[in-house]
Amino acid sequence: GEIAVLLGGTSAEREVSLNSGATVAEALRSLDYRVREVDPADAGWLAQLDGVDFAFNILHGPGGEDGCIQGALQALGVPYTGSGVLGSALAMDKQRSKELWQGIGISTGGFAMLRADTDWQSVIDRLGRVFVKPTCEGSSIGMAPASNAEELEAAYREAARYGGAVLAEQFINGPEYTVSILGGRALPSICMETDNEFYDYEAKYISDDTTYNCPSGLSASDEAEVAELALAAFNSLGCAVWGRVDTMRDADGRFYVLEVNTIPGMTSHSLVPMAAREVGMSVPQLVEQILLLSAE
Ligand code: DAL
Ligand code: MG
Repeated sequence: GEIAVLLGGTSAEREVSLNSGATVAEALRSLDYRVREVDPADAGWLAQLDGVDFAFNILHGPGGEDGCIQGALQALGVPYTGSGVLGSALAMDKQRSKELWQGIGISTGGFAMLRADTDWQSVIDRLGRVFVKPTCEGSSIGMAPASNAEELEAAYREAARYGGAVLAEQFINGPEYTVSILGGRALPSICMETDNEFYDYEAKYISDDTTYNCPSGLSASDEAEVAELALAAFNSLGCAVWGRVDTMRDADGRFYVLEVNTIPGMTSHSLVPMAAREVGMSVPQLVEQILLLSAE
C-alpha cells in the first residue's frame, strides 16, 4: 500500500512542516514504503488521498495539529499517525491545557488571559514578568516577554495578530527541558540553552548557537521526575502515540509544564530525533515506530 505524508499546510509553521515532512518522506522511502507527499494547502488535496492506506500527519500548527485534519481523516476512514481529535485539540490550546492541568494538580505556571481591555498593570502585579503567547500557535510564533504594563500591551497586540486568544504566562527563569514521548514512554530529556532571550523561532530553526544537551545532565531522580510529569501532562489531555512535552525548571528545581506538542518538529534541528538517537534509534526507526504504534 501507499502512505500519504501530509506536510506543509497553511499555518504559520508551514515552512517547518515542509522540512519535517521531507525528513519523514525520506525515512519512509529508505524503508521501502511507497510514499505520496500531500500538501493540504493545494486545492483538491483530499482527492489525493484516494487509494492511500495510511496518512503520516506531519503538519504543524492550526489546521493540521489541532484536530481538524484528524477529524477529516477519521470521517474519510483513513487511519493516521499520532493523537486523535480530542488530544490534538486540547494540546493545541494552551489555555485549555493549562486549565485542565491546574484542575488535576499538574505543575504549570500561573497565567492570565489577555484582551484589548485588560488592566495590564494588574496582570503584572499578580504574575510579575510574563511571556505573552497566542494560545494556539507553535514554534514560539507571536511570543514575547513583558516586564511592565507597556510591554504587556505591545506584546498582546503582536500576539493578537494571529487571530486567536492570547495568554500571559508567569516567567520561569529556565532552563527549558523537553521530554519526547513515544508509545507511552518518555525518551531522555533534552536541556536547551540559547544566547537569545528565550528559545524562540530563530533559536529553534536558524541559529547554530543554541546548545542542546542530551542527556540533559539531570540526576536520575530529577530525570524520573520530569519524565513522570511529562507523561502525566500528555496522558491527561488524551494524547497518544508520540509527542513532545516542553517544561521549564526554576531555580528551586521545580518543573513546570509549558505545553504538549502532538506533532513535534522532525527537522534537522529538531528534538525528538535527537532524543531517539540517544536511545540508539535512527530517524527511519523512529518514523516506523510512530507508524506501527499508530496502527495498533
Ligand atoms: N511546533 C514545533 C514544530 C515543535 O513543537 O517542534
Ligand atoms: Mg509547540
